Amino acid sequence: MKSSSLKVLLLGYGNVGKALRRMIKERAPSLGLNVTIEGVVTRRGIMLGDSEEFRKTREGTPLDALNLVNPDLVVDVSSANYETGEPSVSLYMEALSRGTSVITANKAPLALKYGDIMNQARKHGASIGFQATVMSGTPSINLIRLLQGSTILKIRGILNGTTNYILTRMDQGLDYSQALREAQEKGYAEANPEHDVNGFDAAAKLTILTNFAMNRNISIKDVDFSGIVNVTPSRIEEAKRRSRKLKLVAVSEGKTSRVSLTEVSPEDPLYHVDGVTNTLDIHSDIQEVVITGPGAGPQNAAFGVFSDMVLMSRGLI
Ligand SMILES: NC(=O)c1ccc[n+]([C@@H]2O[C@H](COP(=O)([O-])OP(=O)(O)OC[C@H]3O[C@@H](n4cnc5c(N)ncnc54)[C@H](OP(=O)(O)O)[C@@H]3O)[C@@H](O)[C@H]2O)c1
Repeated sequence: MKSSSLKVLLLGYGNVGKALRRMIKERAPSLGLNVTIEGVVTRRGIMLGDSEEFRKTREGTPLDALNLVNPDLVVDVSSANYETGEPSVSLYMEALSRGTSVITANKAPLALKYGDIMNQARKHGASIGFQATVMSGTPSINLIRLLQGSTILKIRGILNGTTNYILTRMDQGLDYSQALREAQEKGYAEANPEHDVNGFDAAAKLTILTNFAMNRNISIKDVDFSGIVNVTPSRIEEAKRRSRKLKLVAVSEGKTSRVSLTEVSPEDPLYHVDGVTNTLDIHSDIQEVVITGPGAGPQNAAFGVFSDMVLMSRGLI
């Protein structure tokens, strides 16, 4: 989709949606982009037009909003539904069937139905941007777009900032519950951190990366994942005695994809990534590339979506 004018329908309007609206207003005009939010649909109903605060103008579903707004682009900044991927999956399938492009920060649809969604986009000549689903605004998906022409053989990463923060603080002497409490106090972990600490969030991101980087069609059910819940100070000390650190590492190579606690040595680029920072280490048949940066935060996630918008408007996605 190459166009300097984009009529947008937003699915969801929470922290990321609001940060995205601000970014569009502040940055799009100087890039020669005319982006207008023509409607927003949330659990509360539909708002036609654009306003800083959501004000319902009518009842209706995401598909009703698609029909009413007839956008050029659907942007999904709604919460993840890992049971079915709905209402996002149905909205994407319908929008893509009309040649309407999609950008998403929501991982669930692509972690569950990657192949179906990509086939639909291909069939109807529509584009799909999903940078914000992995490492937010730090180019992971969009870095892989630039590596076309090489074959990616292996990807490894620290893809969840919450667990990396907890492991870093444990390495500095806290026990698991102290480190988790601190992560919650600083806003790095949800009140219910289950999807982070059991490895599920990293597995969802690894699913999306693997499919895109290695041209596969796996779902999150194909990823063997475990988390950090059972890590003890003595396990951390044992690693330290060998001059290593324990990290929650996501790896895909060949046919296997897994997320597990792994000891890494100082020569490993993952060893030096501490706190909430994420990193991705890509091995291709030409070279190894490592990228490190923030993996969360509304502003960073909004930037992931916005950078997709800019690339899409220039015909680069
Ligand atoms: N925050 C981050 O750091 C970050 C980073 C990367 C990716 N993401 C992803 O970005 C997405 C948005 O995150 P957020 O932090 O903005 O979440 P949030 O503040 O909780 O907002 C979620 C929005 O989704 C809407 N929503 C939920 N279920 C819906 C449904 N069934 N139909 C329609 N709308 C629905 C909510 O509607 P109501 O307003 O009616 O409740 C709300 O407006 C999530 O998928 C998240 O995983 C977030």
